[in-house]
Amino acid sequence: GLGVINIPVVVHVIYSNSNENISDAQINSQIQVLNEDFNATNSDVGLVPTEFAGRVADSDITFTLDQVIRVASSTSSWPTNDSMKYSSNGGSDVVSPSTHLNIWVVGGLTSGGRTILGYAQFPGGAAATDGVVVAHNFFGNTGRVSAPFDGGRTTTHEVGHWLNLRHIWGDGRCRQDDFVADTPSSDAPNYGCPSYPTVNCRSNDMTMNYMDYVDDACMYMFSEGQKARMRTLFTSGGSRESILL
Ligand code: ARG
Ligand code: ZN
Ligand code: CA
Repeated sequence: GLGVINIPVVVHVIYSNSNENISDAQINSQIQVLNEDFNATNSDVGLVPTEFAGRVADSDITFTLDQVIRVASSTSSWPTNDSMKYSSNGGSDVVSPSTHLNIWVVGGLTSGGRTILGYAQFPGGAAATDGVVVAHNFFGNTGRVSAPFDGGRTTTHEVGHWLNLRHIWGDGRCRQDDFVADTPSSDAPNYGCPSYPTVNCRSNDMTMNYMDYVDDACMYMFSEGQKARMRTLFTSGGSRESILL
């Protein structure tokens, strides 16, 4: 098998004031959360209900902080059009996307007039925009973080997308698949901190999965099926194989 897959990370901090210029400690806290969540060493993994406990995955994917790039910008609130990924727009250009995960940390993000926490590009997209974007106050679990999204799980969720995972409700009704067999079908996102069991589509939702929309404190697992879907990207011919080369 592939063994442990290590992903070098470039963090671009694009700030328009000192609050947005987050500390190295806050950046390091996010790297630690990623390492815990992708190796099932997160302290809350024991909260997974018995029904799903056998599906908890140690994905064997680790993250190493390779570089932090800090860019002063006049922009604080960014749209989700990838403009922060270009120095020509007051952002920061992608670094080595075939071998590195790029994370852009910005002041704030809006989509259709609404605040969002972060967004990601799926595998197979343009190299210049490959990576994830997270608002500064939802990045890491220490420093300038905003409850209830103060556990670093926004980046876990977005890196899940970057590794080809869909939302567990498949972004559609009950029959819409997330292409993962061991995540029960659901018809819509869950929010807040749902109690177990939460029943939709005649089965109990895996609301505690990182690919739902619940609060950070209420998501604490990837499934074995999701692990397999992520790791397929690194096999021969897979779209993230170049990270291992
Ligand atoms: N793209 C999603 C949003 O902005 C991320 C949701 C992450 N969820 C979380 N609990 N951190 O709404
Ligand atoms: Zn998402
Ligand atoms: Ca499923």
